[in-house]
Formats: sequence, C-alpha cells, structure tokens
Amino acid sequence: MTAPLKPGSTIGILGGGQLGRMTALAAARLGYRCHVYAPEADSPGMQVADAATVAPYEDAAALARFSAAVDVVTFEFENVPAATLEALAPLAPCRPGVAALRICQDRLAEKAFLEGRAGVPVAPWRAVETEQDLAAAVAEIGLPAVLKTTRLGYDGRGQAVLRTPEDIAPAFARLAPKPLVLEGFVPFMAELSAIAVRGVDGTTAVFDAVENRHRHHILDLSFAPARVPAEVATAAQRHAVRVAEALDLVGVVALEMFLLPNGELLGNEIAPRPHNSGHWTIDACLAGQFEQHARAVAGLPLGSAVRHHDAVMLNLVGPEGLARWDRLLGRPDVAPHLYGKAEARVGRKLGHATRILPRGALAAMTDAEALSGF
Ligand SMILES: Nc1ncnc2c1ncn2[C@@H]1O[C@H](COP(=O)(O)OP(=O)(O)O)[C@@H](O)[C@H]1O
Ligand SMILES: [Mg+2]
Repeated sequence: MTAPLKPGSTIGILGGGQLGRMTALAAARLGYRCHVYAPEADSPGMQVADAATVAPYEDAAALARFSAAVDVVTFEFENVPAATLEALAPLAPCRPGVAALRICQDRLAEKAFLEGRAGVPVAPWRAVETEQDLAAAVAEIGLPAVLKTTRLGYDGRGQAVLRTPEDIAPAFARLAPKPLVLEGFVPFMAELSAIAVRGVDGTTAVFDAVENRHRHHILDLSFAPARVPAEVATAAQRHAVRVAEALDLVGVVALEMFLLPNGELLGNEIAPRPHNSGHWTIDACLAGQFEQHARAVAGLPLGSAVRHHDAVMLNLVGPEGLARWDRLLGRPDVAPHLYGKAEARVGRKLGHATRILPRGALAAMTDAEALSGF
C-alpha cells in the first residue's frame, strides 16, 4: 500500500472545469494544494488552485514539468487523451489510471465492460461502422433505437433517436466520428445514478442512489435519495461498487442507469470522476463526492458517505439558470454554488443549487413541493 500524501502535498488535476474546481476546494480543506492543467486560461479550476499550467494535452514538455510539480495526478474530464495519461504514468502516480479512462472513453468498451467484468446488464447494442452494419443492427434490435457516437459524446451531443426507417440514413450521415453504436431505446420509468468511491487499499464507499431529470439533454435536477423501492436503490448502489471494483479504480465513479417498469436496472454510462448527479453530496453528506475523490487520490482513508439530509439539486444552466441566482441566495434552505465561468452561454452549466430537506422528508413530497421556490 502507498503511504498517504502528507498535508501540503500537491494534487495535479487534468481538466479545468467545475469538477476540478470543486475537487480543489475539497482538497484544500484537507490541507492539500492543487495544480490544474488545462488548455484554457482562467478556467474554473484554475481560479481556486494553487498553481496552473495552460498548455495543450499533447505538450510533452509541459506535462513533464507538471508531473515534477505534483505528487499525484487525477483528471476531472474523461476526454483527456489517453496518451496524456500514458505520458504521465511513468512520472507520477495517476489515479484513476489509464485503463479505466480508456474503457470510459469508448461506449463499445464501456458496454462490453458493464455486461462482462462488472456484471451490470445493459440495453441491446451493436457496433456500427457502415450503413450496412446499421441496417443489420436495426433489423436485430428494432425501432425505436438510439444511434450514438462511441467517443466524445456529452449532454446528448453525438446521438440520434431513430423512430422510423426514414430516420436511419440522415442520422448515419450526420453522426461523426465513426464508429457508432446502436442501442435499443429503453422505455425507462426513471433515470438513476449512484456514485461509488474506492480507496488505494481497495475499500469502497457508496452514496445513496439518486433520481435524475434532464432538460434539453442536460441534467436539470437530482433528487436524493431516489424515490424507488429499497431493493432497487440497493441494487443501484451495488452496481456502482461493482464498477469501481472491476475498473480497479482509485477515486470516484458514477454509474448512470435506467430503471425499467419491472424494477430492473440497466447500466447506461460510466464516468470515472465526480459527476453532476453527485453535487448534492457536498451539502447533504459528511464527506461529499469531491472530498471522497480527494481522499482516495491522496491515499487517505475514505470518509463517510452517509446522507445527513435529503436534497434536491438544481443545475443553473445558461442565462436562464443565472437569472435564479439572486432569489436562491436569499433562501435559508439552499446551498448555492457558482463556477466562475466568464460567459453565460445557452446550455452551459454555470452553477448549481442544492435544497436541503430533513432526512426522510423527500419520500412524502410531491415534485411541486420538492421544487417549490426553485
Ligand atoms: N438507449 C436509450 N434509451 C432511451 N433513452 C436514452 C438511451 N440512451 C440515452 N438516452 C437518453 O439520452 C440521455 C443522454 O445519453 P447518454 O448516453 O447518457 O449520453 P451523454 O450523457 O454522454 O450525452 C440519457 O440520459 C437518456 O435520457
Ligand atoms: Mg449520460
């Protein structure tokens, strides 16, 4: 086992977004410094970090200098090129490592991993490279179905729902880069996610599973805990822990799932990093997802993932989201968070707000009650 990082050590974070920013804030509370590496200057992460490197992910000299300045490397963004982590691996401990990153960067590898090593069922899927492959996949899976790029998709970008045969050719022409993956359309009752964390010594902890709602393909709301039967919530947590273990991960991992009307769960996506659906844990758990990530990466014992309050998390997206800020600031039951992004572009995640409720209260509330004032 590796010794824990001493207070005052430096955690290197690849990626400059809000996930790195909130990791750096949590790491600071544990007595660590953070050094953010990203191609964009004045990124949300850099604004709260001790040091920053502004350089492309392919800059070998900048990566070497970065590795010399940090004690451990993590990432807050799973589209960091695998080659970047490979270049860093001989120079500094990388947590998580490149193997986990590779699986989560590629929807085909991710699905094979979920069904195989992790033992989490997924919707039927077929790899699609050519239009002939797509015709064969549609014949097997049927319509409706969802066609997705295997790489670089996020917030619903890089996917198309195929409802009729006429949708097939335009979707194939539009989506790039190839290869693609065709998935059966899942008639889900709800979307759930669960976040697990695994330490250097292999111990795990898991947060309560939550229920997620999207708007324009972007996460809008998370309800914590998910209002589902206890056995469903436990199964969701167990799946997330299995994913962390089978990835041999050190750090936090989120598993997005679909809940079917018969109570079965299907795995959808894995994020080997803190996740938007876990932001509520900052304010409603003793050790939130960012603290857990910092603890795992630093080789510390994990913290308690116990939820001391129920919570509803609202994303503040674009100018519309920002317009709610002043009102949210005035509420005694809301913890407001802003990410320091200069431009309030439409569709951009600018912050979030977590409404805290007494533990156990959410189960008896209607959506209107849970969201009142948001
Ligand atoms: N196979 C599917 N069946 C039904 N809905 C889907 C399916 N795949 C994705 N979706 C919907 O699209 C959203 C985004 O898809 P996802 O695969 O999570 O990509 P990303 O989050 O990277 O954009 C999901 O949260 C879900 O609402
Ligand atoms: Mg997703």
